[in-house]
Amino acid sequence: MKKLERQTVIITGASSGIGEASAKWLAREGAAVVLAARRRERLDELKHQIQTAGGQAIGIAADITSAEDRSRIVSETLEAFGRIDGLVNNAGYGQRGPIELVPIENIRANFETNLFSLIALTQQVIPIMRKQQSGRIVNISSVAGRVARPLSSVYDATKHALEAISDGLRGELAPFGIKVVVIEPGFILTEFLDTATERARDIFEHQSVYSALFEGTAAGYARLRKMAGTSDDIAKLVLTALTASNPRARYAAPRHAKLALFMKRLLPQGLFDYVLSRQTGVNSK
Ligand SMILES: NC(=O)c1ccc[n+]([C@@H]2O[C@H](COP(=O)([O-])OP(=O)(O)OC[C@H]3O[C@@H](n4cnc5c(N)ncnc54)[C@H](OP(=O)(O)O)[C@@H]3O)[C@@H](O)[C@H]2O)c1
Repeated sequence: MKKLERQTVIITGASSGIGEASAKWLAREGAAVVLAARRRERLDELKHQIQTAGGQAIGIAADITSAEDRSRIVSETLEAFGRIDGLVNNAGYGQRGPIELVPIENIRANFETNLFSLIALTQQVIPIMRKQQSGRIVNISSVAGRVARPLSSVYDATKHALEAISDGLRGELAPFGIKVVVIEPGFILTEFLDTATERARDIFEHQSVYSALFEGTAAGYARLRKMAGTSDDIAKLVLTALTASNPRARYAAPRHAKLALFMKRLLPQGLFDYVLSRQTGVNSK
């Protein structure tokens, strides 16, 4: 029997990257997958691919920051499949730039998508899982949920907060048979970096006192690209989080992510900052 037979899993941000790959992996294991994101055509195409391969899927065009859309994700899932066994909170994007120059509305918007909307959707799913006395919530955090970097700390803060919320939820929901797992990807080749770069274009193109700091980042990202993982690396962890009988609280991949987290635990902050600046190219010393 397939590992997720007769289970329904909602995946936010399923129109590309990690969400799209996770949907394919989970559908192959028998899950009925609910694909949610804003780009309807992408969802239709993915739904078609999954159905052609013999899987079950529905697409729900939804903006995670809209309360109405979040309610629709839950009600349409129940209408189609009658239950929710898994929620993969994956939709998100990166806001880059030095704190001084990132408009406060952009900072709020990043928290709105990556954190508040995720919490609000989770609040709607919890009572359903509680009634079922089972369920799994998989939160896609990041190495950035444990390691904050210059020029990226807005996004990193959203993921740090997500780590805290996940730790709280894990204890609160355990008595109801609901497991909460955090996934911490390192650098993964998806649309993520292009989206983040586009969103911060005005800040980076504008000559400022931070321009010298920006300069090193291109080389840093080129180095990271060579070590980058794939969406499949993370989709495998999502599958593990949903199927392991005793899932760990956290999973990280690929190797450079595990190494960074290991060093963060071991090294004094000053030395860690130095190693990080060598890696990212943001030499703030
Ligand atoms: N790639 C990396 O290196 C990396 C590393 C660590 C963590 N992560 C995390 O992994 C998750 C997925 O990112 P990815 O790398 O797969 O990037 P991606 O290819 O850019 O995918 C992001 C997904 O989020 C969706 N999304 C964004 N805003 C949304 C909104 N308001 N409403 C609904 N959906 C929304 C996008 O769909 P639409 O645009 O169609 O709405 C898209 O499907 C994110 O939470 C990201 O922070 C990524």
